[in-house]
Amino acid sequence: MQELDRRHVHQCAAKVATPSIANCETVACMSPTVAAPRLATLVGDLADARPAYRALADRIRLLIADGRVVVGTRLPSERDLTTALGVSRTTVTRAYAVLRDSGYAVARQGSGTTVAIPTGEIRRGTGASLYPAEPGHDVLDLTCAATRAPSGVAEAYAAAVDELPAYLAGAGYFTLGVPEVREAIAARFTARGLPTSADEILVTSGAVAGMAILERAFLSAGDRVLIENPAYPNAAESLRRTGARLVPVPVDDTGWDTTTVTSTIATSRPRAAVLVPDFHNPTGAYMPDTQRALVGRALARQDTLTFIDETITEVRLDDGEAALPFAAHHPGAITVGSSSKSHWGGLRLGWIRARADLLTRLVDARVTIDLGAPVLEQLVLLHLLRQSPGMPADRREDLVRARGAAITALRTHLPQVDFTMPAGGLSLWLRLPEATSSARVVDAAEREGLLLAGGNRFAATGTLDRRLRLPYVLSPGQLDEAVQRLARAVTIAGHTAYRPGKRTTRPLVA
Ligand SMILES: Cc1ncc(COP(=O)(O)O)c(C=O)c1O
Repeated sequence: MQELDRRHVHQCAAKVATPSIANCETVACMSPTVAAPRLATLVGDLADARPAYRALADRIRLLIADGRVVVGTRLPSERDLTTALGVSRTTVTRAYAVLRDSGYAVARQGSGTTVAIPTGEIRRGTGASLYPAEPGHDVLDLTCAATRAPSGVAEAYAAAVDELPAYLAGAGYFTLGVPEVREAIAARFTARGLPTSADEILVTSGAVAGMAILERAFLSAGDRVLIENPAYPNAAESLRRTGARLVPVPVDDTGWDTTTVTSTIATSRPRAAVLVPDFHNPTGAYMPDTQRALVGRALARQDTLTFIDETITEVRLDDGEAALPFAAHHPGAITVGSSSKSHWGGLRLGWIRARADLLTRLVDARVTIDLGAPVLEQLVLLHLLRQSPGMPADRREDLVRARGAAITALRTHLPQVDFTMPAGGLSLWLRLPEATSSARVVDAAEREGLLLAGGNRFAATGTLDRRLRLPYVLSPGQLDEAVQRLARAVTIAGHTAYRPGKRTTRPLVA
C-alpha cells in the first residue's frame, strides 16, 4: 500500500513538472492526454467538412504539426471524441485509422491511441519550444533564427586554447564568470550608455539559461508575469514550467501598444515582466527611447521585477542611432544578454547584468542549474569581444544581404504576403493572405522540404494563425529556394481538399 502511495506521489510530481502541455488536460499522471472536449474545441466545426473523417484527421495532424498537441499525447477514446464532436462513431474511427496509417498515431494495447511522428519524417521539435531539426538531406531548416559563425571564431578558439593553461591550476568553476570576461561585458554596457562594473555581471550559459536563473531566483508558481504576445516560445515555455501565469501584452511589427502595456501593468500588477525591446523576436519591432521611459516608469511604479532580454540587441542591420539600454531608463531592470546572435550560438554563453547586491541571490539560484559556463568558451568570447564588442562587420554584411535576398524572393515568388522590413534581428514576420492558416502552410512546407515555425508557436495567447516567421539565416540562393518552397506550400495550403502527400522537393541551390 505504502509502495503504491509512493508511486502515486512520484507520478503526480511528474505531472506537475510537465505543465508544458498547457492545452492538454492531464488526466493520467504518466503520459499527457488531451480531453475529448478540449480536442473538439481545437478541431473546430466539422459540419461542412466532406468527408468528415478526412477533415478530422487533417485537423488533428495540423494540431500535431503545430505543437498544440504534442507527440506522446494520448488521444481521447473514440467514444468520448464522438460525443464531444457530435459526429458519427465511424467518422472518429476512420480518422484515427488515417492517423495511424500515416504514422501520426500509434495504437497500443491497453493505452489507446497515442500521437506520434511518422517514421522517416524530418525530426524536429513538436513541443512549445524551438530548436533546430537534425540535419536532413535536402531540407532547408528555418525553424530557428540562428546562423553560422562569423569569421574569426576558429582563430579565437585557437588563441583561447593557448591561454587555457593559465587556468588549469584552478578548479575551473567560475560561478560568476571569468573575471576578465565579466569586465569586457561590463565595458560593452558602459559603451552603450549604461555605466556598468564587472561586479554587476554574471556569465551564464546563454540567455535562456540566464532567464531560467532569474525565474528560479525570483519567481514562484502562480506569479503573474507580463510577456509580449507574440513571444520567443522558449521564454514563454520556461515561464509556464515555472508555474507563472502569463499576462500577455500585444506587440506587432509596427511596435508596442504602450497604452495597453502600461494599463495592463497598472491593473494586473504583475510580479515580473519579460520584454524584448530590441528587434523583438519574432516581430522585429524596436522600442524607441520615449516608450522605454514610459514603460519603465509604469513597471517601477508597481515594483514589477523587470527582465529585459537583449539577446538580439547587437543585431542592428540599418544605420541609425541605437536607443539606450532599457535599464538606463529603468535602473531596477535586470538585463539578460547573449553572444548567440551577435557572435555564435555554439559558444553557449550569455550574461546577466543586475545590481551587485543581487548577485549572491543569482549565484545561489544558478548553482542549482549549472556551476558556471565553460572556461574555454569564455576565453573565446573574450577574444571576440576585444575584436568587435558588438556584432562583427562581416556578420552584419551577411545578414543585410540575406535580408535583401529574402525580401526579393518574397516579392518575386510570394507577392501576396505582407511584412515590415525590420531594422535588425534575423527574421521577417509575415502576414499570410486572408484565410491562409500558417499551421497548414508549415505542414505543407515540411512536405516541400522546408521547416518553419508558424505563428501559433509564438502565441502567448490566441492563435496568430495568419502569421509566419521567416528567418533570413541561410545563403541568398538557399533563401530564394526556401521562398519558392514556401510559395508552393501557401498554394497547397489554400486548397481546402489538401491531403498530405509525398514530398516534392527539388535539389538544393547552394
Ligand atoms: C529573445 C531571445 N532570447 C533568447 C534566445 C536564445 O538565446 P541563447 O542562445 O543565448 O540561449 C533567443 C534565440 O532566438 C531569442 O530570440
